[in-house]
Amino acid sequence: EKDGYEHFMMKEMYEEPKVIRDTINPRIKDGELVLDNVTITEEDISKLEKIYIVACGTAYHAGVIGKYIIEKLCRIPVEVDVASEFRYRDPLVSDKNMTIIISQSGETLDTLFALRESKKRGARILSIVNVVGSSIARDSDDVLYTWAGPEIAVASTKAYNTQLTALYMVALELGLKKGTITKEEADAILGQLKQIPNDIEKILENKEDIQKFAHQHYNAKSIFFIGRGLDYALSLEGSLKLKEISYIHSEAYAGGELKHGTIALIEKGTLVVCPMTQDNLFDKMVSNIREVKARGAVVLAITQEKHAEELKKTADTVITIPDVDSLVAPISAVTPLQLFAYYMALEKGCDVDKPRNLAKSVTVE
Ligand code: M6R
Repeated sequence: EKDGYEHFMMKEMYEEPKVIRDTINPRIKDGELVLDNVTITEEDISKLEKIYIVACGTAYHAGVIGKYIIEKLCRIPVEVDVASEFRYRDPLVSDKNMTIIISQSGETLDTLFALRESKKRGARILSIVNVVGSSIARDSDDVLYTWAGPEIAVASTKAYNTQLTALYMVALELGLKKGTITKEEADAILGQLKQIPNDIEKILENKEDIQKFAHQHYNAKSIFFIGRGLDYALSLEGSLKLKEISYIHSEAYAGGELKHGTIALIEKGTLVVCPMTQDNLFDKMVSNIREVKARGAVVLAITQEKHAEELKKTADTVITIPDVDSLVAPISAVTPLQLFAYYMALEKGCDVDKPRNLAKSVTVE
């Protein structure tokens, strides 16, 4: 059932283009975005003072992207929290809020209880879930399914790409209904989303570049991921993926924050991975790369083709993704990070699909 792939994780990364298409296409009818099972009205949206996004692990990292996107397109404040913190912190949730719950399995206990806590306090619940009829789906007011299909590898890959896709569609729906974006703007973003599967196909075709890099660096003891804006959110996910399956210590830092914290840990040969897809923050990241290079870091940058030549002057290795608008870039830019984690784990001889101590679905506290 691995269809000739060595691991489920690789098979599932190869499924990303298809499952993103499956998540978008059925929801575009005659050029209009139609979110099945989402019945929130313009009136409901106009009453929303704040949106909470609650999830665990990789789904939480999707939520961090969701915050940026919803705030940008809908101008509603969004707070994103891990479920195990949210449920115990007496959250300020009421009927003036909506809680977006994200979960691949739909059965994560902390996430389910955070949903119930939120519901008890009067919030409307919209969930982004992969498993049809799961506990989280059943307890929600609105459900937007990610059509990622079964995900077997413990490290989540394709589910994350589809969670992001779904979050962009939610932001478009809310923005259109609230009037904070025009139909033309929404159509332009939808057009960009539809292009992403082709971009991921190209990224997968060029995976050998990442494999080669991993082959040279798999002995790294500690790896930093730094990024700004949406690339910071991506850094969190890239770092988690690497830790989960390769057991290499890693930290994700906001690009501008490193010098307020652990820059002392950057020494000769420390590997620093920099997703750099945000055009308006590009120069700031170049400065951050200079800071870490001055301390001896080896820098792997991931950016659009259009920036590659320039970036080669500063970073040691540049991995490219096809040119894509900064707003939607995370959906394709995560794939090189997933591949990086995969190849590092493979080089180290780790059990890629079943990393130690981790369960696919955490149904205990
Ligand atoms: O099924 P869920 O999306 O609710 O699971 C949440 C986390 O347990 C999950 O994302 C976990 O972090 C993965 N192992 C990430 O690769």
